Amino acid sequence: MIRKSRWVFVPMQVALLAALALPAAPAAQNPAPPTEEQSVKPGINERWKSENIAPLVETLEDEGREIFSQRERIAALVGPLKGSVVADIGAGSGFMTELFAGLVGAAGKVYAVDINAGLMERLAKDAADKGIANIETVVCGERSVDLPANSVDLMFICDTYHHFEYPVSTMRSIHEALRPGGQLVVVDFYRIEGVSSDWILEHVRAGEEVFTREIEEAGFELVNQHYPPYLPQNYVLRFRKIER
Ligand SMILES: C[S@@+](CC[C@H](N)C(=O)[O-])C[C@H]1O[C@@H](n2cnc3c(N)ncnc32)[C@H](O)[C@@H]1O
Repeated sequence: MIRKSRWVFVPMQVALLAALALPAAPAAQNPAPPTEEQSVKPGINERWKSENIAPLVETLEDEGREIFSQRERIAALVGPLKGSVVADIGAGSGFMTELFAGLVGAAGKVYAVDINAGLMERLAKDAADKGIANIETVVCGERSVDLPANSVDLMFICDTYHHFEYPVSTMRSIHEALRPGGQLVVVDFYRIEGVSSDWILEHVRAGEEVFTREIEEAGFELVNQHYPPYLPQNYVLRFRKIER
């Protein structure tokens, strides 16, 4: 269950200072990247498979959630996107998808990709009601984003990488779906032992360093890291696809 307490304010500066004062994390807290096709976090998506989507939308679109309240700034940080093909992986209620749809313009396109069919159905209807013609929803599997090969310029994974139960195969599918030189932007929670809430420590299986290593091993190079002051709970990483 996601609890409202997940949005409790933890200033990044406080978190980083506290982290510097901590002893090195024991090996168990810094696991090797997964290599096998078994769930890295069984049950992490139990709630997100629900057909009762109203509580899911309510959680995601809570003004107290920084990803939602800062969505315009996050979209601006990801851009410029005019004419691009963007994929919002784990699109949820689709508020970022709809922002991207405006930024890519009529010459571009946005794939909204999620394992939850109800959320994608709701988003497709909302986009149609608003006359947004450049969004395509995709209900994907848990091991693949199910997008065409070499079709996407930029993948956006917000508050979702830690929900990938099969990150090795999912990242393989993301690599294949990106065009040469394509980019990947990941937004995820700071997870710092001794600083982050118990909920974060339990819910998010690893921190920035481990996720960066996993994504690099999936065939990406880190381009830059952002620690925006308006996102005290989340970091933003940008990667570029490496051809293999
Ligand atoms: C915490 S929500 C974040 C939603 C949205 N990105 C946001 O920030 O508002 C995580 C989303 O990831 C989806 N999800 C979980 N595993 C996934 C996977 N393997 N591929 C695509 N989506 C997935 C869930 O159904 C859920 O909608």
